[in-house]
Amino acid sequence: MQHVSSTLAIPDTGYVPRHVAIIMDGNGRWATQRHLPRVAGHSRGLDAVRAVVEASAARGVQFLTLFAFSSENWRRPEDEVSFLMRLFMMSLRREVVKMHANNIRLRVIGDLSKFSPRIQQLIRDAEKRTAGNTGLTLTIAANYGGRWDLLQAMRQMLARNPMMDPATLDESVLAPHLAMAYAPEPDLFIRTGGEQRISNFLLWQLAYSELYFTDVFWPDFDAAELDKAFASYRQRERRFGRTSAQVMAPSGLSGTA
Ligand code: FPP
Repeated sequence: MQHVSSTLAIPDTGYVPRHVAIIMDGNGRWATQRHLPRVAGHSRGLDAVRAVVEASAARGVQFLTLFAFSSENWRRPEDEVSFLMRLFMMSLRREVVKMHANNIRLRVIGDLSKFSPRIQQLIRDAEKRTAGNTGLTLTIAANYGGRWDLLQAMRQMLARNPMMDPATLDESVLAPHLAMAYAPEPDLFIRTGGEQRISNFLLWQLAYSELYFTDVFWPDFDAAELDKAFASYRQRERRFGRTSAQVMAPSGLSGTA
């Protein structure tokens, strides 16, 4: 199913964001503040992932997308990268059983060719196992970058339509090739850890997302913090380019605007 593009039409918005995308930042600083090694922050970060997945499902979020490892994170010290890989592998083995029991569908997006064959196999198995689940769709972005996504979409599109006339290229031709074409665009983007940037996350899909930044470090982010983000979201007026008056009296103004 193709979802409504926020730049072509006005999507439905609800009380609870349908799709929440999160940059989980601040694990290292959380650990350093406690005189612990940085990797201890990542372990606690995994606990926060569990809490937020559970709280999101309970609140009726349909899609939760977590930035676990960016295409630029390979630049980190080797032992931190290998710890994150082990954590990822362990989660794919253990957590997937629980996810499946909770009707969660798991997807992993990113350039997976850089991961070990073992991890790639675990990803395929986990996706296959949970594919038929109808609850929350949890997407883990791993070795993901927004620019990588746009480029791979363009490559795929051109490979399938080599004789394509450039004049026919529009959003609806490219969008189905994006890694997360199965999900609506995020309603709410959250970044923990105090930085206020997108860091090459979902560049295309965040066009009209509401942005929420908090100083809370990711290991401390829990259901109560998620509720604060949702409360902020509910205060927002999502205009999608319209005037406030049009939003208040929307009759006849939907569609392209
Ligand atoms: C950013 O904090 C966090 C990461 C690069 C890794 C995120 C990983 C987890 C939350 C745990 C595992 C999750 C899954 C889905 C298996 P940072 O290290 O950049 O923190 P800093 O900015 O304080 O240094």
